[in-house]
Amino acid sequence: MRIVVLVSGTGSNLQAVIDAVKAGELGVDIAAVGADREGTYGVERSAAAGIPTFVVDFKAYQDRADWNQALTEAVAAYQPDVVVSSGFMRIVSPGFIDAFGGRYLNTHPALLPAFPGAHGVRDAMAYGVKVTGCTVHWADAGVDTGPIIAQEAVAIEDSDTEETLHERIKVVERKLLVSTLAALAADPAYSAA
Ligand code: GAR
Repeated sequence: MRIVVLVSGTGSNLQAVIDAVKAGELGVDIAAVGADREGTYGVERSAAAGIPTFVVDFKAYQDRADWNQALTEAVAAYQPDVVVSSGFMRIVSPGFIDAFGGRYLNTHPALLPAFPGAHGVRDAMAYGVKVTGCTVHWADAGVDTGPIIAQEAVAIEDSDTEETLHERIKVVERKLLVSTLAALAADPAYSAA
């Protein structure tokens, strides 16, 4: 199974995928890693791991449709079976999703459909829920919407800050992403949805 991974930042979830592939625990080929801006650590660490990288800089395009088209072409060049949004903080167009047969996987640090968006951890804490978690799902063109494949709960402690909670969620999220990719590699039809 060939994957292209999209990142906007640190790429620590991506690193878990890279590590699992290198350890021979995950039978996927990371064809490329792409970002929506220059200078991400996610791209830097991928290049260090010998993975092809590309940037389709959102700010370099006059309008979103042009950027979407350029992103679609950049990803399509690697002919992925699955595209993974791993902390990719941009909404893509329905045309992008269609170009990859709807196989656009996203991870999110909350139990969707609760707390979508860029601040899922902060929003869960602000609401005062006692349990949050992470979600791996097939993404559509909405904000963290689409059929859920896997979820895992994480309890919120009184002493948590957004950073400590997000880090605990990410520990779970990394495993869930790797195990979901492994299940999809073994069976492309795998999906709880
Ligand atoms: C992850 O927790 C991911 O779920 C979240 O960004 C983080 C990226 O971390 N994505 C979203 O909030 C999407 N709405 P990473 O760059 O260290 O992998």
